[in-house]
Amino acid sequence: MCGIVGIVGRGPVAPLIVDALKRLEYRGYDSAGVATIEAGVLGRRRAEGKLVNLEKRLNAEPLDGKIGIGHTRWATHGVPNETNAHPHFSNGVAVVHNGIIENFASLRDELIADGYVFSSQTDTEVVAHLIARELKRGADPVAAAHGTLKQLEGAFALAIMFQGDEDLIVGARNGPPLAVGHGEGEMFLGSDAIALAPFTNSVTYLEDGDWATIRRDKAEIFDMDGARVERKRQQSLSTSYMVDKGNRRHFMEKEIHEQPEVISHTLAHYLDFTSDSSKPLDLPFDFAKLDRIAISACGTAYLSGLIGKYWFERLARLPVDIDIASEFRYREMPISKDSAAFFISQSGETADTLASLRYCRSAGVPIGAIVNVRESTIARESDVVLPTLAGPEIGVASTKAFTCQLSVLASLAVRAGVARGTISREQEKALVHQLSEAPRFATQVLKLEEQIEKLARDLSRYHHVLYLGRDTNFPLAMEGALKLKEISYIHAEGYAAGELKHGPIALIDENMPVIVIAPHDRIFEKTVSNMQEVAARGGKIILITDKKGAALASVKTMETIVLPDVPEIIAPLIYALPIQMLAYFTAVFMGTDVDQPRNLAKSVTVE
Ligand code: AGP
Repeated sequence: MCGIVGIVGRGPVAPLIVDALKRLEYRGYDSAGVATIEAGVLGRRRAEGKLVNLEKRLNAEPLDGKIGIGHTRWATHGVPNETNAHPHFSNGVAVVHNGIIENFASLRDELIADGYVFSSQTDTEVVAHLIARELKRGADPVAAAHGTLKQLEGAFALAIMFQGDEDLIVGARNGPPLAVGHGEGEMFLGSDAIALAPFTNSVTYLEDGDWATIRRDKAEIFDMDGARVERKRQQSLSTSYMVDKGNRRHFMEKEIHEQPEVISHTLAHYLDFTSDSSKPLDLPFDFAKLDRIAISACGTAYLSGLIGKYWFERLARLPVDIDIASEFRYREMPISKDSAAFFISQSGETADTLASLRYCRSAGVPIGAIVNVRESTIARESDVVLPTLAGPEIGVASTKAFTCQLSVLASLAVRAGVARGTISREQEKALVHQLSEAPRFATQVLKLEEQIEKLARDLSRYHHVLYLGRDTNFPLAMEGALKLKEISYIHAEGYAAGELKHGPIALIDENMPVIVIAPHDRIFEKTVSNMQEVAARGGKIILITDKKGAALASVKTMETIVLPDVPEIIAPLIYALPIQMLAYFTAVFMGTDVDQPRNLAKSVTVE
């Protein structure tokens, strides 16, 4: 999604803005721009594509102002080209924007009727013209910005600059995040604390409906009625080392390899390995008294929740209602008063997940957030934060956040089982011990890199791939398919193996590789039958299994990836690794932009 940066600085700000925008690259974007005010005059440079193109423009024609705003744009209204890139100007007003102005069409018609000429296809340009119109009507810059904000509907974060005032940026937030960074004789705005980390780690997060004036010596925050509001200033945990790939080619590769360590950190937060017990948690509800839980999330986070459902229901006999957040928020599901709701999100900013959280908040149930970014909106709006300790995840394709989400969910399910008396102390000990083995097994699986890289070369020749699995391997099959399509652009679908004969079997022929995730568990035989059905129709099977499974599979495969024999509870964490590696190497062979795949954003702050 779009990234915003604003600096009221002490020296030339354009290079600093570009530096901060680079730290927002992970959010996904397709054009970028910077504007500054120099000697009382607004200037801007914009470029389609990556930031390197903007840097070239700036090298050829530098901007020297000490105040500026910058933007990475992820196109919503209008194609990704230079004309649609932000900042947008109107009569001395410069605006950058993240989000969607929902009433832009009516505002645009009204402005056109008033004589304003639009040079882009964006919804953002209405904001610049509206402010200019307020100025023309006699408002001062701050009043013009405030007057405009009141006319906007939708989800937006904005940074606004005014020719004629080199000590003022107005920021506003209604949905997508925006933070003020406090410096010494300089002040910053940024979409997140990662962008601001090189300048300051003293930040104030704007809340929905807040807008702020930032000047070199002070930042003031107001509500929509124009009343001053106080928001907590806090020390951000973000540091400037975050955008380092180490010795890896891609962030995704680095993040895949970090998994043994981050899974171990996350599990250790919830489990006590010296006594093999689940740690008591300070929860706003009692697992023993719940009649069900609701889970909502998007994409990979949703799929981790789906695996969590199997665990909560099996280990704690606790029914789980789970839905994709974009459905959850609108389908008006009844929420039991004796339930709790969990929202899973790496970024903690996903618009649909946040809206689902607010739906449950209005139903009055306790809310837990399983998030990676602890300072995020979802974290702040929850009653309890259950962190994943994955560290910053920069690659758009979620890898380590996923296995850390699974680590939290498995630990919580064990805790719930203990609280509800559905697992004995002996079972708790065994499960916690088994979970403690996950990092070791993950390390072993990462050593299969060479075999998976070779297989990826073959896979990259196909146009369609089917993933199959049963039980927790069904959501994992969907995750395998999601990973593959998002970074390699190969069409892939994940199905419950038992559903094969109800439709997808019609697709099977020699051009359809079928990746089957099948550890030797209690339903292994059932999956073998499905593999036979595939083999009988000439489908090419790639089997991901363990030693026993490989020995007993009795079908000819295109490739068999043999993982260590692992306990059932940790199988989803361990089997996630080969599917991530397969997607990664396939994408590398296809030559795609692995860390920032086309059309995707890391943090989806619009619905
Ligand atoms: C995962 O690889 C995706 N890029 C995407 O599905 C992601 O998981 C989803 O957008 C949810 O994001 P969140 O965890 O930040 O809420």
